[in-house]
Amino acid sequence: MANRFILNETSYHGSGAIREIVTEVKARGFKKAMVCSDPDLIKFGVTKKVTDLLDAANLDYVVYSDIKPNPTIENVQSGVKALQEAKADYMIAIGGGSSMDTAKAIGIIDKNPEFSDVRSLEGVAETKNPCTPILAVPTTAGTAAEVTINYVITDAQKDRKMVCVDPHDLPVVAFVDPDMMASMPKGLTAATGMDALTHAIEGYITAGAWEMSDMFHIKAIEIIARSLRGAVENTPEGREGMALGQYIAGMGFSNVGLGIVHSMAHPLGALYDTPHGVANAIILPTVMEYNAPATGTKYKDIAEAMGVDTTGMDQEAYRKAAVDAVKKLSQDVGIPADLKEIVKVEDLDFLSQSAYDDACRPGNPRETSVAEIKELYQSLL
Ligand SMILES: NC(=O)c1ccc[n+]([C@@H]2O[C@H](COP(=O)([O-])OP(=O)(O)OC[C@H]3O[C@@H](n4cnc5c(N)ncnc54)[C@H](O)[C@@H]3O)[C@@H](O)[C@H]2O)c1
Ligand SMILES: [Fe+2]
Repeated sequence: MANRFILNETSYHGSGAIREIVTEVKARGFKKAMVCSDPDLIKFGVTKKVTDLLDAANLDYVVYSDIKPNPTIENVQSGVKALQEAKADYMIAIGGGSSMDTAKAIGIIDKNPEFSDVRSLEGVAETKNPCTPILAVPTTAGTAAEVTINYVITDAQKDRKMVCVDPHDLPVVAFVDPDMMASMPKGLTAATGMDALTHAIEGYITAGAWEMSDMFHIKAIEIIARSLRGAVENTPEGREGMALGQYIAGMGFSNVGLGIVHSMAHPLGALYDTPHGVANAIILPTVMEYNAPATGTKYKDIAEAMGVDTTGMDQEAYRKAAVDAVKKLSQDVGIPADLKEIVKVEDLDFLSQSAYDDACRPGNPRETSVAEIKELYQSLL
């Protein structure tokens, strides 16, 4: 079977990239934007960096901000209504994965109204039309939702995060500007950065990985490993590196999938509202150890990309070195080592089944089961 590869049609990178928004809007003849952004970003003046540019260029827009972290079906449905009432012909998504994913779901339903229940979009939905055009401006360096064909919406009634995969949701232009990320506090920088590292590592060892996706993932691991500590200290080099590293990881995993770190993290977001990156970061080393037998020599590449000299190491040694390098980075940026403060023992059966049913699970390099996933959770308590 042929390997499919999908990326943004256009993307801008580097400090000042958001200034290109006006040029793109004019060139594409867009008339009125719905800016999708969350309440905190509006409060902290992050969204304003973009709306100031729109104001200066006399571009028409409305703002939609009924978006919570781990966004819900309701956030999407009221957004569709707002878009249609505003008669906006495109969206500017400004935020982390939550704002960008909400914009994607709104845009898909706007152009494919038969999916307005949202639940029918879970997994791979047979939508017919591309979503309402989206210009995406990430403000976290983690999810890479600006370049992925995925979005994640929470079904609050069922305590379930729905992973939706649909090439029709891809933003037409991404503006990956590290200045938009500079206001992130340390904890958020660390968590979202570890999400990006998880994408790169899971994408590198996932079942569908091949030479082209490997190229993106190994480069992403290298950039993230050398940049995350600096980004947490808010250095310009660290921010630049993380903006690019997370995007390159997205170019890869969007096309080949992930694994059970994400499958196990999603139910924690749904049930306890655990920040996505924190959940991934805690689970990653444990699942790396579990997956090691199914990864050939790939942990050698991972260890080297993380700065380890693997000369003279046998397979056992370089596999351990890769896991240790991830643990060290996680610890250095202040991520907790276990799930004790998060998971309740009585929820373990629900969590394990939910992780097994997650759309990322089939991509895991090692065949797994509900019972083994439960053991993995237990080992973190
Ligand atoms: N689409 C994908 O491919 C994909 C991949 C991974 C995760 N996700 C999903 O993305 C969501 C998580 O996104 P996220 O980790 O980017 O966080 P987020 O969008 O949920 O934002 C978390 C918090 O950080 C704040 N914030 C964001 N940028 C900031 C900045 N520059 N300065 C100050 N505060 C800022 C927000 O206001 C919010 O309160 C989850 O729902 C997750 O499942 C999607
Ligand atoms: Fe993620």
